[in-house]
Amino acid sequence: MKKTKTLWTMTLMLGAALLLAACGSGSGSSSTGSKTVANKDKPVVWFNRQPSNSTTGKLDMAALSFNKDTYYVGFDANQGAKVQGEMIKSYIEKNIATIDRNGDGTIGYVLAIGDVGHNDSIARTRGVRTALGTAVSKGGAVNSAPAGMNSDGKSKVVKDGSLTVNGKTYKIRELASQEMKNNSGATWDAATAGNTIGTWASSLGKQIDVVASNNDGMGMAMFNSWSKENKVPTFGYDANSDAVAAIAEGYGGTVSQHADVQAYLTLRVLRNALDGAKKGTGIETKDSVGNMLAKDTFVYNEKQRSYYAMNVAVTADNYKDFTESTKVYEGASHQLSKSKSPEKKVWLDIYNSSDNFLGSTYQPLLKKYAKLLNLNVEFIGGDGQTESNITNRLGNPSEYDAFAINMVKTDNGSSYTSILKQ
Ligand code: BGC
Repeated sequence: MKKTKTLWTMTLMLGAALLLAACGSGSGSSSTGSKTVANKDKPVVWFNRQPSNSTTGKLDMAALSFNKDTYYVGFDANQGAKVQGEMIKSYIEKNIATIDRNGDGTIGYVLAIGDVGHNDSIARTRGVRTALGTAVSKGGAVNSAPAGMNSDGKSKVVKDGSLTVNGKTYKIRELASQEMKNNSGATWDAATAGNTIGTWASSLGKQIDVVASNNDGMGMAMFNSWSKENKVPTFGYDANSDAVAAIAEGYGGTVSQHADVQAYLTLRVLRNALDGAKKGTGIETKDSVGNMLAKDTFVYNEKQRSYYAMNVAVTADNYKDFTESTKVYEGASHQLSKSKSPEKKVWLDIYNSSDNFLGSTYQPLLKKYAKLLNLNVEFIGGDGQTESNITNRLGNPSEYDAFAINMVKTDNGSSYTSILKQ
């Protein structure tokens, strides 16, 4: 009697389990694998825009540690900012004989700012100002606010710096800087930068000796519309292919943020979590097919749950090594076995489908790694302005096994995690 009852209970339980597995998606969960996983427990990776307060820069740890399989992948913004600033400074030093176009003893530069609330953009503005001696401190950090027009050197946001080369001292002035935001609110806007350089050039003329930009998208827009013709060195960030190629035509330089390493890490942390593999597999230690990253290409900060790729200056001296910006990292170019790492579905968004770096460098790399890691990635492209335009397309998270998120605004982590918690 007891045996029959137990058998009956077991049959009932099995039936219920099968039913659950079949309906799977009904209640905030999915079952593409052998067991049902609730959406709130699925792997999440934030990339390129780190969950943080856009005013203070403070990290949003609730988003960064949403569940045990949540990470951020980006690059070391401070190290990169230093690289960019020093690259510009050393260019000025090396070209001191010709750089001062009007010979007034002042090296004037203009600066295109990407997004005043984005940690990467803030760091780069600080890096340029620190290296060139134009930084002013505010609340213990370098003020990163746009100076607007500063041809008279009276701005409170920056100050005049000085640089001594070959016994002669030059003044360095940030003549103008502005956030490149278009009328609808999209930041890092290349078209706005292309127009703004025209406005700057018509009022500042030969005072402009150097053009600096928080990224290559804006940098190349300024180069193509003005600086190339006027032979004014222009510096960006990202090492997009077009910018690297332009170094041969006078673009001053750029910085590689190791997009090959970042795109790999973005999908790799998801793959590891989906496989239940040990953290760091294929990253710090070789995976079964030999993939691994070199130690000097990234750092991992456990407290911040963040992987940061390292940055390298790309100049006339080494640009030939960087012409293929969408080439996969050689040490991590082996396909995983489909039996050990079966295909999984990933939802991935890019905050602005027309962002130069993400569109022309990062996304092509993601596509290549998706194949190698057996991930079926669905790409969602945003308009760069409205978070809901993207979150609305995360209507059925149960259809996916993992999520890769690139927010419009770094404050908005909870707009995504709240959907996964439902
Ligand atoms: C890149 C920019 C890009 C931004 C998007 C930055 O890391 O350097 O080019 O526009 O990310 O979030």
